[in-house]
Amino acid sequence: MDPYKYRPSSAYNSPFFTTNSGAPVWNNNSSLTVGSRGPILLEDYHLVEKLANFDRERIPERVVHARGASAKGFFEVTHDISHLTCADFLRAPGVQTPVIVRFSTVIHERGSPETLRDPRGFAVKFYTREGNFDMVGNNFPVFFVRDGMKFPDMVHALKPNPKSHIQENWRIVDFFSHHPESLHMFTFLFDDIGIPQDYRHMEGSGVNTYTLISKAGKAHYVKFHWKPTCGVKSLLEDEAIKVGGSNHSHATQDLYDSIAAGNYPEWKLFIQTIDPDHENRFDFDPLDVTKTWPENIIPLQPVGRLVLNKNIDNFFNENEQLAFCPSIVVPGIYYSDDKLLQTRIFSYSDTQRHRLGPNYLQLPANAPKTSHHNNHHDGFMNFMHRDEEVNYFPSRYDPVRHAERYPIPPAICTGKREKCIIKKENNFKQPGERYRSFTLDRLYSLSYPIDITPGIMLVLVMPA
Ligand code: HEM
Repeated sequence: MDPYKYRPSSAYNSPFFTTNSGAPVWNNNSSLTVGSRGPILLEDYHLVEKLANFDRERIPERVVHARGASAKGFFEVTHDISHLTCADFLRAPGVQTPVIVRFSTVIHERGSPETLRDPRGFAVKFYTREGNFDMVGNNFPVFFVRDGMKFPDMVHALKPNPKSHIQENWRIVDFFSHHPESLHMFTFLFDDIGIPQDYRHMEGSGVNTYTLISKAGKAHYVKFHWKPTCGVKSLLEDEAIKVGGSNHSHATQDLYDSIAAGNYPEWKLFIQTIDPDHENRFDFDPLDVTKTWPENIIPLQPVGRLVLNKNIDNFFNENEQLAFCPSIVVPGIYYSDDKLLQTRIFSYSDTQRHRLGPNYLQLPANAPKTSHHNNHHDGFMNFMHRDEEVNYFPSRYDPVRHAERYPIPPAICTGKREKCIIKKENNFKQPGERYRSFTLDRLYSLSYPIDITPGIMLVLVMPA
């Protein structure tokens, strides 16, 4: 059975038109009128249904990352990391797991050009035997702000002015000048890699720190990184204007055409790990999302490869209705106390219940491919067929039991309630080092946009 075909599905199309309820439609050209030139009859059910469906075709676009392209394929483990995690899909080299991936831009609308200087989303849904795992990352390894409390303001500043609906640099500078922790992210955004050539030629990163837990219960902080096997390629400002000017969907098209031609995009997955017992050994906080973990002291370890070898069948079902969430994890992978990750854990499923409805995880692209069972049911657009009589727990009539316990981080959490900034802010060292490592011609691209740059330059050229 093809797991990507569902009923209702166009795989079971009848040879003639029907209404949504399956009745034959004998005329899909003309409305039912009184005489050849008379008014249209309300009883033309097919016409009313056709218009009503059309009138409701759009759903709310994502509040961020509205513009995106997706594709399907598989993830294959190439290196054994079973000493670090009991995650079933990482159990041994050679194990393959089906995936769906969505790449995106962040700030602008669903139909905006894919050539804008903007981070790119890199979200991977692994359909594992122990439920789905969503790795919801970006192309840069750091983020603008470290506390999710700041995220809505940050997005408001980057989005168009609410009065004119024009994106304006004075609003961006105004907001970020209050947030020196964002400097590191700007050294990526205004670097040559600030505009990826397309989705195939960019890196990905989980950005936030997660935790891997072994069967024995030992935890390691982890960062995930994707490296494209075809290399990283980017557009300079003038190239982007030309590419975007002639095709505002160039990256979506590149992804689709490459897969259709059998030129399957591939990325290698690497991890970096830190023993939580060593987290105080650094001059930065490893749970601070505005920092990278230097690769010379925390090396990249290979894990597997991601291959995209199947185009989506339908953009609405497998892109618009697709829902990723950083809180969707599997046994062996857990969150960390990274403040930004903690807020993301809430936000995604919250927006998806609004954007897609409470049963959004029943949608085929979002549902696990493994069997699942609980007593959450009903609500708008429930389409799961159930025939159980016992929908409560516990019950002597239902043999359902708890799953086997799996390890979660053993660290003890204590402390008084606080609202505060982390102790080791160290906002300038990493961006300063990165800036001073650039060659002169690379600095050229940092000089865009002209009214943001002076402030950033001033801070960056200062010695650390
Ligand atoms: C507290 C900080 C953040 C909040 C509150 C937040 C919130 C959101 C929301 C509400 C969406 C729309 C989801 C939907 O409608 O399906 C979204 C999408 C997304 N976010 Fe975040 N975000 C945050 C930080 C980040 C970070 C740090 C990353 C990168 C690691 C990231 C990557 C993404 C991606 C890739 C998507 C698009 C997923 C897709 O393709 O459907 N976000 N975010």
